[in-house]
Amino acid sequence: MTDQEGVDWIPPGADLSRPSAARIYDYLLGGAHNLAADRAVAQKLEAIQPQVASVARRNRAFLRRVVRFMLEQGIRQFLDLGSGIPTVGNVHEVAQAVDPHSKVVYVDYEPVAVAHSLMLLKDNPNAVAFEADATDTEAVLGSEAVKLLDLGEPVGLLAITLGHYLPEVRGVFGAYRDALAPGSHFALTHLTNDFAVLRDPKIAETMRSTQDSIYPRSRDEVLALFDGFELVEPGLTTSANWRPDRLAAVVDPEEDGLYAGVGVKL
Ligand SMILES: C[S@@+](CC[C@H](N)C(=O)[O-])C[C@H]1O[C@@H](n2cnc3c(N)ncnc32)[C@H](O)[C@@H]1O
Repeated sequence: MTDQEGVDWIPPGADLSRPSAARIYDYLLGGAHNLAADRAVAQKLEAIQPQVASVARRNRAFLRRVVRFMLEQGIRQFLDLGSGIPTVGNVHEVAQAVDPHSKVVYVDYEPVAVAHSLMLLKDNPNAVAFEADATDTEAVLGSEAVKLLDLGEPVGLLAITLGHYLPEVRGVFGAYRDALAPGSHFALTHLTNDFAVLRDPKIAETMRSTQDSIYPRSRDEVLALFDGFELVEPGLTTSANWRPDRLAAVVDPEEDGLYAGVGVKL
């Protein structure tokens, strides 16, 4: 047991002095790996915009659909950047349900996310998690963990709600693209001010009190992150509207809020 709120899932030495996106998102998704300070920020965000939890849930549903899509395209190895705290429908669960040999590498810089992932994966030889700043592309790509993947073969690169936490993002995603084989798939979701739901400047202001400030980007800026990739249908859309499940209702992009797309490396 640690002495932080009497919970036993906090890794020793972790600096939890400031709220984190990983734990705020966990709370919004109904998870239990968050602290009072994280919940306070999440509740403040919900007071500004009552739909933030719906945006988070639709983002998570996009992640599951995208992994299934990549599996249908023959992808069997995934690099999940900013993977977060494990919750319903983790990448390895979706992928290994289709093919138990699917390989997954999770990267996050938030210690609770990584510790919890490691616990979940301890008996899983085909999935690993490690703590790293995704912007340190050399450290990530040169890591022992990434050796689980064969970078000579196509990879599914996931940056689901990661880009908007990075002040400079094109060079970072470009470095991953350059390391991947043609035929690799790249999926992202990204916060924007183009749509009403997350546009209130109080949202970015609130996130500045956490360890994860946000940098919303315009459609053209998000499209530029797909340089070197060919977008698959329906192109850049919003998370709920990217290849929705058969019976899902269309969601107004003004409410959906996050850009979403998938590209194939040329
Ligand atoms: C909102 S969560 C998303 C989790 C998961 N990708 C999903 O969409 O369900 C964003 C995650 O990105 C992580 N993150 C933000 N900046 C990062 C960075 N520079 N390096 C690694 N992880 C980062 C946060 O710690 C957090 O776990």
